[in-house]
Amino acid sequence: MISRRRALGLSAAFAAFPARASESVLRANDISLRALAAAKGILFGSAAASYELRDTDFAALLPREAAVLVPEYEMKRDVIEPKPGSYDFSGCDTLLGFAAGQGLKLRGHPLVWHWANPAWLEDVVRTRRDPRLLTDYVTRVVRNYRGRIRSYDVVNEALIPPDGGAGGWRPCFWLDVFGPNYLDLAFHAAHEADPDALLIYNDFGCEQGTPANDRFRRHTLELLDGLLKRSVPVQGLGLQGHLAAFGAKIDQRKLAAFLGELEARGLAVLVTELDVDDEVGPRDIASRDRAVADEARRFLDVVLDCRATRTVLTWGLSDRYLDPPQSLRLKLTGWQDRRLAYDRALSPKPLRAALAQAFQGARSRPEANKASSR
Ligand code: XIL
Repeated sequence: MISRRRALGLSAAFAAFPARASESVLRANDISLRALAAAKGILFGSAAASYELRDTDFAALLPREAAVLVPEYEMKRDVIEPKPGSYDFSGCDTLLGFAAGQGLKLRGHPLVWHWANPAWLEDVVRTRRDPRLLTDYVTRVVRNYRGRIRSYDVVNEALIPPDGGAGGWRPCFWLDVFGPNYLDLAFHAAHEADPDALLIYNDFGCEQGTPANDRFRRHTLELLDGLLKRSVPVQGLGLQGHLAAFGAKIDQRKLAAFLGELEARGLAVLVTELDVDDEVGPRDIASRDRAVADEARRFLDVVLDCRATRTVLTWGLSDRYLDPPQSLRLKLTGWQDRRLAYDRALSPKPLRAALAQAFQGARSRPEANKASSR
């Protein structure tokens, strides 16, 4: 199991972002984030891990703020299929039971990924080269949750990170054995297992404004256009939304143009893993929290201005469960990330106000009920 930080692959630090003019701040917790979002036809939610539900304070906060959950790790294939053909849905079932009991939805994430696979899988795929090693797994998971999970990140991170090398495809065993067709296999299997599910391609790298992100947005549109041209049942793009408070910044003009391209293709837009890395920032907590909130708000203002945006999920609701930093230097200084809406004491931070204000300022979606259905 990898730590969340190593999997994030965030880009390096750049200039600090000028503080945003202060705005009237919602009285903390007056109106829930899920209610503010739902008023505009948007689903707001968060990643959650089953062990976090044993924390009664956190388990009370989660359904107050979130209308939808996504398993942080319980639907990774190394958890679901630890041995060939031996499936363990207990972690997902725990999250689904909690969600259903609280009137929340649960998203599925991820079905096919290059990472967090069981140790046995890659060698077997490379040796047997049998597409059923992909399609049977997707079919088994989606059938198991048919009618209870209505939205999936079918393929995760098939493109190379923005600071990666030439070409678009992320090298991985799926690509080596089946070529880009592995995406077609995954989406068709998911659609056949549940024709009513919303099927999403999920990745990070379309958010910031660097030339590498320009390439990534181009590769993402090429990937989606290829799927659409081959009548592959992809219905939307998941923007993971891993932002950097003191790193590469959002370019609002470029992001808005990219979202316009997605809308023009009839694709849904979901923000699937929003958080704001505040490493390499100053030690002062207030300025870190402000920079985190400002960058999230700049991103959300653009994303929520796009009518195709249906869902905003943060990759966790509180800093309480963040892994310690990878870098020894930061570890030795006792550094603690502050990338989420609530701090470790479960108090709301400026990011929570930024989310609330972004939803308040968002345009309403005419098909509000459709957005709230999946
Ligand atoms: C990470 C989780 O946070 C970890 O707990 C888990 O061990 C590995 O996966 N992009 C993704 C997420 O799509 O699935 C990753 O989540 C973070 C990066």
